[in-house]
Amino acid sequence: MSPAGGRRRLLVRDLAQLATPARSAAPLRGDALSDVQVLENAYVLCDGESIEAVGFMRDLGRLGADVEELDGRGLCAIPGLVDCHTHACFAGDRVEEFSLRAAGATYEELHAAGGGIMATVRATRAAGAGELTEAVRTHRAWMLRAGTTTFESKSGYGLDRTTELASLRAIADAGGVPTWLGAHAVPPEFGGADAYLDFALTEVLPAAAELAEAADVFLERGAFDAVQARRYLEACSGAGLVLRLHGDQFTEQGAVALAIELGARSVDHLEATGTAGVAALAASDVAAVLLPASALFLGRPMPPARALVDGGAIVALATDFNPGSAFCESLPLVCSLAATQLRLSPAEALAACTVNAAHVLGRSGTLGRLAPGYAADLVLLDAPDWRYLAYHLGGGLVANVIVGGTLVELR
Ligand code: NIG
Ligand code: FE
Repeated sequence: MSPAGGRRRLLVRDLAQLATPARSAAPLRGDALSDVQVLENAYVLCDGESIEAVGFMRDLGRLGADVEELDGRGLCAIPGLVDCHTHACFAGDRVEEFSLRAAGATYEELHAAGGGIMATVRATRAAGAGELTEAVRTHRAWMLRAGTTTFESKSGYGLDRTTELASLRAIADAGGVPTWLGAHAVPPEFGGADAYLDFALTEVLPAAAELAEAADVFLERGAFDAVQARRYLEACSGAGLVLRLHGDQFTEQGAVALAIELGARSVDHLEATGTAGVAALAASDVAAVLLPASALFLGRPMPPARALVDGGAIVALATDFNPGSAFCESLPLVCSLAATQLRLSPAEALAACTVNAAHVLGRSGTLGRLAPGYAADLVLLDAPDWRYLAYHLGGGLVANVIVGGTLVELR
């Protein structure tokens, strides 16, 4: 509140550039994905938590003395980045496993030997609710520093009632969008996936559905098969949750067909998706969430991004931030990978981690654009051209982050 008691207004002035996905449609497909509006010598005016106006400095009218000003000279404004796929609620790390992988062990071998995801489950179960809340807050601070103003996070490292519910609460407490990844791995205390699902769907789902917005499943050899994934997802849909899947990460196991049949919001990974899967997704309303940092971190093939975009699929980009397959919270780095590995343009990358990612989280009406009425979430890049977002590989180019019209202190 301003001293006068009115709403706080913030003017970001003299920006070298402002770049935002153009038009107002969401999600963006095909050619529309590269339709970015760029204004040179621009301003953004925030009124309370929303954007009041954007435009050229030369068109800026007189403003009252109550408006706070931020000097944007030498900076470029883009919408606050939206990370629609992370696993930010975990304890411990997997640096030992990372070293073994560097020496030749594979992710799937480590998982089959009881390491991998289950190693993080053991550490996460051992942590209390307070420690988990602290962990998500720390990870959120890392994400903010990289320009992420909205994040989704999955649970999935508890796989017991107490830890799964504590995880969903910790995510919500840190301002994240919680997804119940109740079917991430089969914990060893159960005889198999079916017995575990008996437990998860009767003992955990009713309470998880109160805390989460979506449900997710790891449909892969060594995790859950298509029959088990269908059972889990149908029960979650019945409880009112949006459906998402980890699919085609290592092998095609029917994730795309299942996602389309069940009307899922997204299928994520897709490193192993072939031409039929690409065509099916392109003709559907299921978003393809691509996670190139995970493919890079595991030395896996990149997903068929160009074919998906050209075919007309809804494509979003996310980090997959987690301790095992993608210890990376940076969407700018993901944009660099999109441009160098996925053959997406900087414009397509920007739209994929703003407006289309907001669509995956059911928030495209308020997030992902710099336009009047949208949330006043913006990132100021220390760059003369907004395309440095993808161009400056691993660069620390986030100068300022504004969330809900307030300049955030980056720690
Ligand atoms: O999206 N593949 C399944 N789940 C995560 C990795 C989780 C982990 O390794 O801890 C992923 O890559
Ligand atoms: Fe993931």
